[in-house]
Amino acid sequence: MKGIVLAGGTATRLFPLTATTSKQLLPVYDRQMIFYPLNTLIKAGIKEILVIVAPDHSGQFLNLLGSIFKNHGISLFFEVQKIPRGLADAFILGENFIAGDNVAMILGDNIYEDDLSESIKNFKSGGTVFAKKVKDPERFGIVEFDKDGKAIRVVEKPKKFISDYALTGLYVYDSRVSEIAKSLTPSDRGEIEITDINKKYLEMGELNVQKIEGEWLDAGTFDSLLEAGNVVKEKEIYKNFDPLIDKAIADFNEELKIIAKKRLL
Ligand code: G1P
Repeated sequence: MKGIVLAGGTATRLFPLTATTSKQLLPVYDRQMIFYPLNTLIKAGIKEILVIVAPDHSGQFLNLLGSIFKNHGISLFFEVQKIPRGLADAFILGENFIAGDNVAMILGDNIYEDDLSESIKNFKSGGTVFAKKVKDPERFGIVEFDKDGKAIRVVEKPKKFISDYALTGLYVYDSRVSEIAKSLTPSDRGEIEITDINKKYLEMGELNVQKIEGEWLDAGTFDSLLEAGNVVKEKEIYKNFDPLIDKAIADFNEELKIIAKKRLL
């Protein structure tokens, strides 16, 4: 299983914060946002992760992540997404990286309270996605279930209510996903939609939708960014990190302190 963190985009809703850095490098409580999605993948035992970044501030991702995991058995790769073409573009940009393996893609601003490792580890083929009940379904990709709880329809941001289960920002697919992504036509908003990938797997009868109960946070607005930090603190989500990540961050901090000291001499 390969991993992808999609950390592209311009995050205009967070201007002026994102005039000076990327959204995914903003702090959520005690660490940069991107460590949360990285944790979801690393906890599931994924060792090779492609981080897709936007051109602006791309060097800052390297400063933070360039060598942080090098002594911890995790290999990070980077790809620059010049134009935000939609979430499904991750599988086109990442096609050579995926190289015929299964892939778990997570959005760089998504924070999960639940440990989804078992679902990722147990994945065999098709697609597995994670649904969470929300109050504002018109903002998300939505999944409708029949009376037996079977997923029957997925719709991107439906104007009319069909269900209040949103498809969250973690997607596990088999290697066919790159071909599927390449076959898509852009939607009205000019993007190739992840929902269209889910539609294809649903049509093939191979979309597994798992409901999640714990907190699911995205941090794309001032309010949701603040809420994310508060929830992470209150629910102690920062304690759910894989020890490997905590150790890598501690080593990184130590290194920074040594460098700072040397500069003072
Ligand atoms: C995207 C997807 C949507 C999904 C959401 C999760 O929405 O298109 O299906 O539910 O992420 O955060 P966007 O953030 O592009 O509006």
